[in-house]
Amino acid sequence: QELQLNLEQIEKAGYDHFMLKEIYEQPDAITDTYRGRMLVEEGIIRMAGVDDNMARIANAKRIIIVACGTSWHAGLVAEYIFEDLARIPVEVEYASEFRYRNPVISENDVVIAISQSGETADTMAAIKLAKEKGAFVFGVCNVVGSSISREAHAGAYTHAGPEIGVASTKAFTTQITVLTLMALKLAKHRGTISDSTFRFHLQELERIPAKITKVLEENDHIKIIAEKYKNSPNCLYLGRGYNFPVALEGALKLKEISYIHAEGYPAAEMKHGPIALIDESMPVVVIATSKGHYDKVVSNVQEIKARQGKIIGIVTEGDEAVRELADYVIEIPETIESLTPLLTTIPLQLLSYHIAVMLGKNVDQPRNLAKSVTVE
Ligand code: G6P
Repeated sequence: QELQLNLEQIEKAGYDHFMLKEIYEQPDAITDTYRGRMLVEEGIIRMAGVDDNMARIANAKRIIIVACGTSWHAGLVAEYIFEDLARIPVEVEYASEFRYRNPVISENDVVIAISQSGETADTMAAIKLAKEKGAFVFGVCNVVGSSISREAHAGAYTHAGPEIGVASTKAFTTQITVLTLMALKLAKHRGTISDSTFRFHLQELERIPAKITKVLEENDHIKIIAEKYKNSPNCLYLGRGYNFPVALEGALKLKEISYIHAEGYPAAEMKHGPIALIDESMPVVVIATSKGHYDKVVSNVQEIKARQGKIIGIVTEGDEAVRELADYVIEIPETIESLTPLLTTIPLQLLSYHIAVMLGKNVDQPRNLAKSVTVE
């Protein structure tokens, strides 16, 4: 028993919880994801699973992404990236819904299955179905040799290292990293982005780990915000475009480990329902980075303010408009819009973590949840 405890202490490497350790591992995990694949000087992305099947993937009429939980949120971010850069139509499906609704799939479709564990039963069943219907299946998994990685025709590992905390953190950001590389590679092949834009993306992606380290320095500030809102029974998360899925993921993280009811919404949908919930007791986390419909998000923030909602803004360094209206702001460094989810996610992970710790919850093993769900 004692030995077991000591081993766990060693594995946590001085952190109180695996989740916190894994949050802090993200700069290295992302570097491990692109290392050997992204050659910035040469302006090349090498991914064997894509290179070996380029004709099939680049000529796909449609990409269907299937996943569950946090991996599904990574899929939603990927939808924006693939459509924006590679101009391939993308659909993102919950694996469990996809498989039970007699989906229309053909040989011209590429199905991307995203799964940290590579063992999620619904995702596995979805790719079996897609294969039967003739689609090409590409797996994005973290666990090497996992069932989904073996069942797929080809794939790319995230190389995040073991993720022990049930609430997914570094798996999410490394999934986005792999999918970004893949989208960039396809975009270059298809000629949908210029050479200079391609190179600029590589340079910016290479700068992301250092920028995450900078966001992690906000930890003490985020703790103060957690202390302030830890007893709220509800919380809203809003974001637009690339950061709409981040809002969903932020809400999921809070639900999973602190058991606080939270909802993520596209900011512009607020007026179609959630605005009715806003009063002086409602904290609203708004992702309002400088690119991506900033002015529109600022007017959402004004609407929240007018209803006495409490505003926590995730903003770009140097922001003024949201800072003036918000109760708290957390700054992230500037980057290109498609890469902002890799930065905006970090403070939301830390916020959930601190709230859960302050409420005395079991952060690494929340009630009713499992790291890998192998039942349907
Ligand atoms: C479980 C975990 C989630 C995870 C989901 C999908 O519900 O608790 O954190 O996002 O499964 O898991 P996968 O391994 O397929 O990414």
